Amino acid sequence: MAGQGPLLGVAQHPILMCSAVFAVLLTLLYYYLLPKPLPGIPYNEESARRVMGDVPEFVALVEAGRRPRDFWADLCAKKNSPIAQYFPGPFLNPVIVVSDFREAQDLFIRRSKQLDRGAIGRMMWGGVGDHHFVAMDASDHKFAASRFLAKDLMGPNYLQTVQPPILHFYSVPCIHEDGGADVSAPIGYGNVESLMELWRFKAAVADGRPFAVINDLMALTADTIFETAMGIEGSDKNIHRYHEHLRSIDLPRIKPESDDTLFPFPEYECDGLLKTIDVIAHVAGKFPTAPILQLHWPIHNLRKEVRKARRDRHSIIQTYIDRALERWETVGPPKKPRWAIDLIIGREQMAAKKEGRKPDYRSKLFHDALYGYCFGGQDTTHSALSFLVKHFGMYQEPQRKLRAALREAHAAAVAEHRSPTSDEICKTQIPYLDAYIEEVLRLNTTASGVVKEAVEDMEIFGYHVPKGTQVIVPLWGASIDSPALPIDESKRSQTSQEHANDMPGDWTNSRYPPETFHPERWMREDSETGRVVFAPRAGPHMTFSAGPRECWGKRLAMITLRLVTTLLVWNFDFLPLPEGMDSLEVSDILNAKPKVCVLRLKPLEL
Ligand code: HEM
Ligand SMILES: *[C@@H]1O[C@H](CO)[C@@H](O)[C@H](O)[C@H]1NC(C)=O
Repeated sequence: MAGQGPLLGVAQHPILMCSAVFAVLLTLLYYYLLPKPLPGIPYNEESARRVMGDVPEFVALVEAGRRPRDFWADLCAKKNSPIAQYFPGPFLNPVIVVSDFREAQDLFIRRSKQLDRGAIGRMMWGGVGDHHFVAMDASDHKFAASRFLAKDLMGPNYLQTVQPPILHFYSVPCIHEDGGADVSAPIGYGNVESLMELWRFKAAVADGRPFAVINDLMALTADTIFETAMGIEGSDKNIHRYHEHLRSIDLPRIKPESDDTLFPFPEYECDGLLKTIDVIAHVAGKFPTAPILQLHWPIHNLRKEVRKARRDRHSIIQTYIDRALERWETVGPPKKPRWAIDLIIGREQMAAKKEGRKPDYRSKLFHDALYGYCFGGQDTTHSALSFLVKHFGMYQEPQRKLRAALREAHAAAVAEHRSPTSDEICKTQIPYLDAYIEEVLRLNTTASGVVKEAVEDMEIFGYHVPKGTQVIVPLWGASIDSPALPIDESKRSQTSQEHANDMPGDWTNSRYPPETFHPERWMREDSETGRVVFAPRAGPHMTFSAGPRECWGKRLAMITLRLVTTLLVWNFDFLPLPEGMDSLEVSDILNAKPKVCVLRLKPLEL
């Protein structure tokens, strides 16, 4: 080990020595941090040569006026391959992207044991509530406990008494022990009525001019989901507060020269529980494209606004828990639970009994069960509703067809000059209505993608994917709204090949091009009866993901969308918008929202 020549010289000068060691360490660190591509799987060459990997690509998309969330679908399209990999930044391994409906279905449904929530998903959702199952691996010991608390909320008993239409939609018989429909009218119905009252008022004031509705729909969604969750009422209702506010202020009544200008109603400013969701959703939404994922929540959690949202959320939820417990103590457990909170209390009592402990209504698990329900239902349903109503005005002919289909199906309501009751909406199959909603969900997918983790070494499209690798499936792009990308059939998994003929893998053989809006693509003629029916398996869309970890609230979401669509199209004519007001741009908060969501409404005579 005898030092020689120059090295010896360096060793004798401490500063030189330190700098040399530092330089060597820095070089080693640099190479250590450089992305290590998985063999064979396509990637951006340039990204592999920098420590930040593909992070600058998100920035480039923004600079090009595109959505950063187009990155995943774009990557596969650019590589002309349904599988690719990208590099999400320092200390993170390459992430696999699978942009192919057939293989994604196969992974989520038939190979679901090989995938779990995983590191990125836990990080992203953990910031919202690390004691809610959305943020947990199925192997987490808390997962079963969290699922147990929420078990009744989408189950038949609750849905039968409170949300009958959901059962109908999923073709389980609707049971009405009491014979009356209105007793168990879905909570959504009353809230849509409040929204329609608000819109009749706004339409009268606006007198033919268009107005913005994105926050009105946010208020509607919140009232529906919070009431279902905890029974909020009166001035806790967002629409109620907003409507009162509008009536209490002076609104400009002078008619401008042109009817084509936006009527400047003050927008609804949310507060309370909805505000906490809004703040936290904004942070969660920036996660997927954040420069350093590991630091995203820790840094944002220091911000005053986020700290306040967390405090408020806790105290508001606790107030409702205490209120419910008080009811239980004074009048006993409800015979026919109407609100989610009562079912969660019931489940907590069962769990406590089983485990020989006292029920804990202040635990993180209990809080997150309730907050997760409110949070999970709010931003998603709001996005879908905003895109839906935007379509009414954008496509006049389909709107007329939709209204005609509704009127034909609800003939009694037409004859009696009223809206269909919730019971009628529940019992009536209307293929065009289902097709319309399905088509909006396909084209205007609210969540950009689903992220999972390989829990064992596995193969995807014949490539080796090591245990621990994150796998992202974009919910739009190839196979969903553009043709599937080419791949050799033999590269698909065994099970994927076995199910090749279950349904089409993309829309290229459809009568309607994949990128166009045509509800009819979701309808077919029944070969036995000759009647036109809704065809949910006509082709791909994955708005709710699939398999055991698909959207847990899908049933509630679908009934809300059906109910709102029926009542709105029944009661209002959505007139075409002036040029420039029907922009198709989106803003990606947590879920995608139309940047401009403006309506020109004419209330209809019933
Ligand atoms: C149109 C409305 C909705 C859409 C488009 C939607 C979409 C999705 C998607 C794509 C996922 C999968 C996320 C992932 O795996 O990363 C998901 C999961 C979930 N959704 Fe929804 N959702 C909607 C409404 C709702 C509602 C109303 C609720 C609850 C009241 C809800 C609660 C949840 C929960 C708890 C999960 C996590 C499931 C799990 O981890 O196993 N969602 N949703
Ligand atoms: C929404 O749907 C329309 C078609 O009805 C489509 O033109 C538009 O690109 C879609 N936008 C997004 C962001 O999904």
